[in-house]
Amino acid sequence: MAIERTLSIIKPDAVAKNVIGQIVARFEGAGLKVAAAKLVHLSRAEAEQFYAVHAARPFFKDLVDFMVSGPVFIQVLEGEGAIQKNRDLMGATDPKKAAPGTIRADFAESIDANAVHGSDAPETAAVEVSFFFPGMNVYAR
Ligand code: CMP
Repeated sequence: MAIERTLSIIKPDAVAKNVIGQIVARFEGAGLKVAAAKLVHLSRAEAEQFYAVHAARPFFKDLVDFMVSGPVFIQVLEGEGAIQKNRDLMGATDPKKAAPGTIRADFAESIDANAVHGSDAPETAAVEVSFFFPGMNVYAR
């Protein structure tokens, strides 16, 4: 399987809970490497642009409000099958539906405050990685 890169965001709820390290440990424990990382407080314009694909959805304003409510920890994760591996570690978008032992089951409270974001496909990973880390390719080699 190819060595891939994917974008991960540890959202304001998980940063506020002081569990960045516990979440990163899960990525590392599953064999993913942190290839880039930064702690930032997104502007409204950045959050709106990042989630532009959801602009017409009824939850868009709440999503943007939440994502600018505090700092986020943004990473590029690298490894074999990184995109799917990260999604498996995160669990379902709605923490109530997330499988036991997943990040969202263990750390998230609601579908808005759901602890983490991860790219959902190679195409979105490429766009999302370069959005926050311009010049980085989605394939490690
Ligand atoms: P994320 O993976 O960051 O992608 C978009 C986010 O919108 C999602 O996680 C949720 O936090 C949020 N969201 C709120 N309501 C919904 C919904 N009904 N369906 C999908 N995502 C939602």
